[in-house]
Amino acid sequence: MTDDGDGDLEARLVEQETFEPSDEFVEQANVSDESIYEEFEEDWPRCWTRAADLLDWDSPYSEVLDDSEEPFYEWFADGTLNASYNCVDRHVERGDKNRAAIKWEGEHGETRTYTYQDLYREVNEFAAALRDLGVEEDDVVTLYMPMVPELPIAMLACARIGAPHSVVFAGFSADALATRMNSADSRYLITCDGYYRRGDPLDHLAKANEGLAGVDHGVDATVVVDRLGEDGFGHDLSGNQHDWDDLVADHQGARVDPVERDAEDMLFLMYTSGTTGEPKGVKHTTGGYLAYATWTSHAVLDLEPEDTYWCSADIGWITGHSYIVYGPLALGTTTVMYEGTPDYPERDRLWELVEKYAVDVFYTAPTAIRAFMKWGTEYPERHDLSSLRLLGTVGEPINPRAWKWYYKHIGNEECPIVDTWWQTETGGMMVTTLPGVGTMKPGSAGPPLPGIDARVVDTEGEEVGAGRAGYLTVDKPWPGMLRTLYNNDERFIGEYWEEYSDPDADEWVYFPEDGAKIDDDGYITILGRVDDVINVSGHRLGTMEIESAIVGVEGVAEAAVVGGDHEVKGEAVYAYVILEDGYGGSEEMREAIIEGVEDAIGPIARPEQVIFTPELPKTRSGKIMRRLLEEIANGEELGDTTTLRNPEIVEEIQAKVRD
Ligand code: WTA
Repeated sequence: MTDDGDGDLEARLVEQETFEPSDEFVEQANVSDESIYEEFEEDWPRCWTRAADLLDWDSPYSEVLDDSEEPFYEWFADGTLNASYNCVDRHVERGDKNRAAIKWEGEHGETRTYTYQDLYREVNEFAAALRDLGVEEDDVVTLYMPMVPELPIAMLACARIGAPHSVVFAGFSADALATRMNSADSRYLITCDGYYRRGDPLDHLAKANEGLAGVDHGVDATVVVDRLGEDGFGHDLSGNQHDWDDLVADHQGARVDPVERDAEDMLFLMYTSGTTGEPKGVKHTTGGYLAYATWTSHAVLDLEPEDTYWCSADIGWITGHSYIVYGPLALGTTTVMYEGTPDYPERDRLWELVEKYAVDVFYTAPTAIRAFMKWGTEYPERHDLSSLRLLGTVGEPINPRAWKWYYKHIGNEECPIVDTWWQTETGGMMVTTLPGVGTMKPGSAGPPLPGIDARVVDTEGEEVGAGRAGYLTVDKPWPGMLRTLYNNDERFIGEYWEEYSDPDADEWVYFPEDGAKIDDDGYITILGRVDDVINVSGHRLGTMEIESAIVGVEGVAEAAVVGGDHEVKGEAVYAYVILEDGYGGSEEMREAIIEGVEDAIGPIARPEQVIFTPELPKTRSGKIMRRLLEEIANGEELGDTTTLRNPEIVEEIQAKVRD
């Protein structure tokens, strides 16, 4: 065993609070002049043509921003384009057809490389197949697939024919799939027979079929990728279910003209957790989103077409949409995809792949870095990581210790790190340093990107001074922003705009529901969610969704879910449960609750602890004191309990958590 990486960090590194990119990095960086901040500010919103200019438009836009119907902003609205053309065709047309677009590695080490020419062929053939299945422009196609190359191919095929996709993370349950298909009124599903996890095949199709049974409006067609071959579970495909390979074989050589889409036409829907039990269908558009994902890939990830780039997220989350698929492919980069987990077959799997593919830019989540730290430096030390030029993180706050570990043991103190704050709703990165410009401060994401008007305010909307905690807001719109929640404009306004806007004064302020603080240099440190969303291993989960799953278990009367600190996951699910009379807090009950959560959402939402209690701490008005439950989960000293109706319960619960 090696140490946890802390002991061999030299004192200098431990104490060092700021870091500069090397001259070598700056010299080659896509953006290296700090005047870009001023330039964007002075030229706002026209500055965003810099993003739009990275794309090829079928017909040009005449206006950058239309803000006549705030907060329903429109960007580049009268321009037309196609996302699949921008991510595929144009690279082929420009003579880059033999460059690798996707390098895929399966868990067992099997590999597939798709050049841009291959991708062009696959996307066209599958687009033709989708059309023949009856998919029309604006039909929402649900993609419930693991990390197989057919997933980005299907996304781009949908984009080609103007059918928005809605990708549902493969780790989500059958119920979660059905909820999302029902909400989006989606009649087409593309899925997979299974995939490998730590050596074993998983029966994904069984879950997909169960989900399909819960789709109220029926489904016109399902396409199933055969990933497992002989390891498959022997499901027969029924009436309207088609085998991917057969469909594609039937459309060999087919070509489908990319459909000219309005910039504001929906490119995709992505469901995400919010304050209520119902997931929100975040709507992203063809022009603004694609321009923004591409621009940030260029400016922040510093991607060049010649780069091999790897984001280790899953495409089932927004990070994979923007920074595995759309941004990197629009730039003509080589993007790496890996099916498996970082610790299989051994804990050096990711570093093995960085070496094997000579990865230039690597983007991952702090939860992974914390796991790497725990495992020790011997794993990265087994490999030559010298191809790396830039590192990034996303999804949750990274503490300075983990940042420095990443900097030293992965980046060899040579690669800048971008700590990128953003959300499903923002479409792309919002707060981070530009790697070729800014000083890095471990633990602080950095200043807002050029053109992004993020601030830290108090409950009244007044900016707080340096060092004080407040709430993050974004005062000006940006091209990558969500346009609405699918079929629910009212909730869109309620969730994001009501808090800080003043509609009478025509002042619209976006509220991301994160706490933050700002320093004298304008660097923003994100403190975490201020709504009832918790962040488990970088995955955003609504406590209400988990609570309603638990309350659905027979014998449960009431449940309260909070996030407790967790060394690797960041936060873990703590479930406080009151049972109905006649039910005891048995091991079986605990298992039933865990199963209930896994069935309703998926294993990612699995409670770390289930604490049975006769009562929950409540205020006199009957509100559950979640803050107290969090403090109890974290073993912290408790804040004020005098406003409780039932203060005596607190000690009882504390004793149970300690057990
Ligand atoms: C959190 C993921 C601190 C934040 C792209 C946000 C972060 C939520 C960071 C969005 C970061 C994301 N530092 N916190 N660099 N990046 N977050 O929608 O709470 O899955 O609101 O998007 O993750 O999660 P989502």
